[in-house]
Amino acid sequence: MPLDEDKYPVESDRRRFVKGVVGGAALAGVTTASAAAVDTATSPSGAGGGTTEFYAVENTDGPAPRGMPQIPVEIDDEGYLMGAWPEYEEGAENAVTEDYGGSGVTYSSAWFQYCGVQTYSGVYPDADQDNYFRYSSSGYDWHADKGGDKIHIDDFQELGEPWREWNTAFGTRANGKPAAGTWRSQDLSPQETMPIQIIRSQNVLDLAEEDPWIEASTEEGCIAWLNKCTHFCCVPGFKNNEGSAKFGAADQIYCQCHQSVYDPFSIVKKAFVALPRPEKED
Ligand code: FES
Repeated sequence: MPLDEDKYPVESDRRRFVKGVVGGAALAGVTTASAAAVDTATSPSGAGGGTTEFYAVENTDGPAPRGMPQIPVEIDDEGYLMGAWPEYEEGAENAVTEDYGGSGVTYSSAWFQYCGVQTYSGVYPDADQDNYFRYSSSGYDWHADKGGDKIHIDDFQELGEPWREWNTAFGTRANGKPAAGTWRSQDLSPQETMPIQIIRSQNVLDLAEEDPWIEASTEEGCIAWLNKCTHFCCVPGFKNNEGSAKFGAADQIYCQCHQSVYDPFSIVKKAFVALPRPEKED
């Protein structure tokens, strides 16, 4: 493995190149490239924040109704990982970025308006919280003493096992190194904390070669998602629960509450009715 593969700076020209190539090719439903299968669920009707198309880690088993929404990853000049937040115009209902990273995908803050998250301070388009991913102190031993610290790309190589070799005592694939964290939640109560997971994996690098959305929404092999199960809102985990093997999920994201399973390397397009955010109190 080339030693400089895990180092900075990131390939900052890559995104510009992609934007130039595919920027005009809007992904109108079924035109997504091969790695991101289009799988738009039927949306329930009714009032609410509105029908929202989003990209998700696929729900493959259990009672969850759909996948968990991806958070596009960015890396700052110093190597810290952030979740991109869409662009916000004063007075707009949601923050929205059209044609995110030249992928043709419209990325909206409404992606995260479910499971009560629509009431969290950090999901308001103009919230004060920054976009850095920060470690949780639970989830994985390799970052247990880093709770609250910003997540750095080099940590996946330098803390604990290197990311290409990380594995657990169960499961079969050494297919990526996960981290558990939070997003847009600093200075908020635990009840307003947005849990996230990140995996750094060769699988993600491979997928990014084939698909403009995955290329735009991942960095250096890192993929991230809002880690709230779409069933009853528990916090699942990737390869952090030995009991997952009984449900065929030893190498997947597994929700211990009611055994929902998600595949972090299968990104699908879905739709749901996002719930409206309550009015802010002044
Ligand atoms: S399976 Fe029920 S909350 Fe996750």
